[in-house]
Amino acid sequence: MGDTITVLGLESSCDDTGAAVVACAPGAPPQILSNIVAAQGDLHAAFGGVVPEIAARAHVEALDHCVEAALEAADRGLADLDAVAVTAGPGLIGGVMAGVMCAKGIAAGAGLPLIGVNHLAGHALTPRLTDGLAFPYLMLLVSGGHCQFLAVRGVEDFARLGGTIDDAPGEAFDKTARLLGLAQPGGPAVERAAEGGDAGRFAFPRPLLDRPGCDMSFSGLKTALLRACDAAVDARGGLTEEDRADLCAGFQAAVADVLAEKTRRALAAFAAMTGATGPLAVAGGVAANRTLRAALTAVAETAGARFVAPPAALCTDNAAMIAWAGIERYRLGHRDGMDLTARPRWPLDTAAPAQLGGGKKGAKA
Ligand code: KG4
Ligand code: ZN
Repeated sequence: MGDTITVLGLESSCDDTGAAVVACAPGAPPQILSNIVAAQGDLHAAFGGVVPEIAARAHVEALDHCVEAALEAADRGLADLDAVAVTAGPGLIGGVMAGVMCAKGIAAGAGLPLIGVNHLAGHALTPRLTDGLAFPYLMLLVSGGHCQFLAVRGVEDFARLGGTIDDAPGEAFDKTARLLGLAQPGGPAVERAAEGGDAGRFAFPRPLLDRPGCDMSFSGLKTALLRACDAAVDARGGLTEEDRADLCAGFQAAVADVLAEKTRRALAAFAAMTGATGPLAVAGGVAANRTLRAALTAVAETAGARFVAPPAALCTDNAAMIAWAGIERYRLGHRDGMDLTARPRWPLDTAAPAQLGGGKKGAKA
């Protein structure tokens, strides 16, 4: 199709199987021709978290169907493609391996170049797909598995300015929901329950705000929530709807406050590093939270930085972002061989110190 680059992307690093086709013609905005996501939520619901073995098996079963559906929805055949891009890490290793093997099979069978993509780079490059953002920009990646600030300076040039030293905020939302008997995924449930709640009734900590820098901690918040819950139960023998609303509102406000203040500092660090005032972009499931969006909008406005929040479906795990990162790497001449390996850990910024902990949704960096 002339100079248009058309790439099939595959994503299977956590609990969503994705396949997507993205095309990019010179001088025109990229086009998402299809973006299929098969969620596995139901399979893991009984276990209170993602079970890696179940996820890997489900990816193996779903990948072929997702690829077929993505090609059909895009009205493209394998012969129309220029390359196959696949998440090669970081993530739950069984799922990543399933995706990499599927992509190798397609690439070998159809004679197409293979391009391994870092899942975090997929998230970090999304604002270029949705909003045509130019380098450099500041990215806050905030989801169930990730939480970090990245100075995005090029397709393969990321500087990590800070991140969580324990849980990711999405994990904290999910644990909060579990503790309060709310549905999973916890983020939307907690946000709904917080409506009309009094965020000031329970005193939640704002961890690490007393320390300089952009690192964050969220595991202490769930302990604080547990204590507040126990106190309310001891006092009245159970939790009322009002207690639940106040607990959720207080927790959500604490997360938003911490992320807002750390974002303010990250914007300053980004300006010192690049000389640029933003733009600030977000990605990850937690970026859908309206209290957080409002807080980040205000921080960006005060700093005089543009704020870019891609649509929710492209903030959460999806294959369009992998296809897009594949196009970006393809344009730079990057190709992988059949020796491409699946990596459980794969930090974007190899110069940054290693992060602690893996988290329930796999490695964080
Ligand atoms: O990016 P994502 O789909 O998957 C990864 O973790 O990579 O993010 C899912 C996370 C879950 O923990 C979910 O509870 C959280 O994002 N989430 C939210 C909201 N919607 C999803 N957290 C807070 N508020 C929301 N509205
Ligand atoms: Zn992700």
